[in-house]
Amino acid sequence: MIFRRARTFNGWQDKLVSDETLRELYELMKWGPTSANVSPARFLLLRSNAAKERLRPSLSPGNVEKTMSAPVTVIVAYDLRFYEKLPKLAPHNQGVRELFANNPELADATAKRNSTLQGAYFIIAARALGLDCGPMSGFDNAKVDEEFFGASVEREGMCEEYMPGTIKSNFLCNIGYGDPASVRPRATRLDFSEICHVL
Ligand SMILES: Cc1cc2nc3c(=O)[nH]c(=O)nc-3n(C[C@H](O)[C@H](O)[C@H](O)COP(=O)(O)O)c2cc1C
Repeated sequence: MIFRRARTFNGWQDKLVSDETLRELYELMKWGPTSANVSPARFLLLRSNAAKERLRPSLSPGNVEKTMSAPVTVIVAYDLRFYEKLPKLAPHNQGVRELFANNPELADATAKRNSTLQGAYFIIAARALGLDCGPMSGFDNAKVDEEFFGASVEREGMCEEYMPGTIKSNFLCNIGYGDPASVRPRATRLDFSEICHVL
């Protein structure tokens, strides 16, 4: 179901994704592991037309229609100051906050690696709940960051600790109930013998 049959969708049924489903999705995906439990991913869930319109200018032309018609478009982002939550997330790991706070390069690599993993957990959790996904990297990250996480952005509805410039977009993911007609022919994957080596 989650791997063999699930597909990437480019069109959507006209069926809402409820607040309850979005919350259930987060409550499932949050258990996926991250290094030292850093959990750097942040999710901005765009469901209203107004929010979608703010995203439109950042999208590659081929991604506009399917995104505007998707029930929800998620900005999978990461917080470069994820380490501020480590006293809660890793109370057993003394000094780990300072490890990242004093090493921006390490913090950057850790945030990117782990938010990408968390984005994958998000897709897997969505599929486990019967939702369909359409992930996308075809958009202007800098434009999205300025529009949704920039210094001039209204903080309304956002977590208080969001600080301008510290949240960066990773990728986008449309979610909803997919239109089977929008699925492209399945492309093959690499064979075990091509890319796996048992030593
Ligand atoms: C991180 C990521 C970025 C992607 N970016 C785009 C994109 O910008 N536009 C698009 O049409 N498809 C995009 N895709 C969709 C992939 O091409 C698709 O998931 C892949 O070919 C597998 O298709 P399948 O799940 O139907 O087998 C992206 C997928 C991922 C995981």
